[in-house]
Amino acid sequence: MNQPQWDSVDDYFTGLLAPADEALTAALRDSDAAGLPHINVAPNQGKLLHLLAQTQGARRILEIGTLGGYSTIWLARALPADGRLITLEHSPQHAAVARGNLARAGLDKLVEVRIGPALDSLTALGAEHVAHAAPFDLVFIDADKVNNAHYLEWSLKLTRPGSLIILDNVVRGGAVTDASSTDPGVLGTRAALELIAEHPKLSGTAVQTVGVKGYDGFALARVLA
Ligand code: SAH
Ligand code: DHB
Ligand code: MG
Repeated sequence: MNQPQWDSVDDYFTGLLAPADEALTAALRDSDAAGLPHINVAPNQGKLLHLLAQTQGARRILEIGTLGGYSTIWLARALPADGRLITLEHSPQHAAVARGNLARAGLDKLVEVRIGPALDSLTALGAEHVAHAAPFDLVFIDADKVNNAHYLEWSLKLTRPGSLIILDNVVRGGAVTDASSTDPGVLGTRAALELIAEHPKLSGTAVQTVGVKGYDGFALARVLA
């Protein structure tokens, strides 16, 4: 582990390729002032989400785990003017901070923050989906890791062939390889990775990352026909 080096390389990449602007800076400042934990994606990771959403040509994005809306801003900025992002957040306090940050970023017309346990909101979204709603082109799963496999199952119901599903925090300093772990987050993430491996409608991979957030990683899965 060499955290100072990872920090300085991330600072270099971020300054060059994912520089902050007023809305992003203010979102982190207000999140911090409200006492939210510093667990948002790093700026260069946010830019990665933005690029992946653009690559998808995403018109509808689902995010599970809003916090202060920092990753939401990066994702929503990839949408066309008539696009839509729905983000699910359990904490009313986090959701209130996120709404303020999204309004300041000029994204409140595109983004809907839904408050409640994500499994409840997903059940409601499932009913809307059956009734009329278009599928999501991209899903970013970044909430309570214990439910990762359930979030992945719901994502499959709410997407289409060609959609992209992204899971954050699949490495957690290496904890993911501990097959005898009793940590609910590790169990949930391992279950999600096993589901990606075995599901006939998913093709995926996982990559380790280092940077300002330490040693972690993402999993990506494409929904197949
Ligand atoms: N995506 C954000 C970070 C999300 S942190 C970013 O990168 O900027 C995880 C968030 O998930 C927290 O705000 C937490 O309150 C929320 N969360 C935890 N359990 C949840 C649940 N069961 N349903 C919905 N949200 C949940
Ligand atoms: C935690 C959650 C995250 O989504 C993250 O990216 C980093 C840390 C956490 O709960 O500790
Ligand atoms: Mg995360």
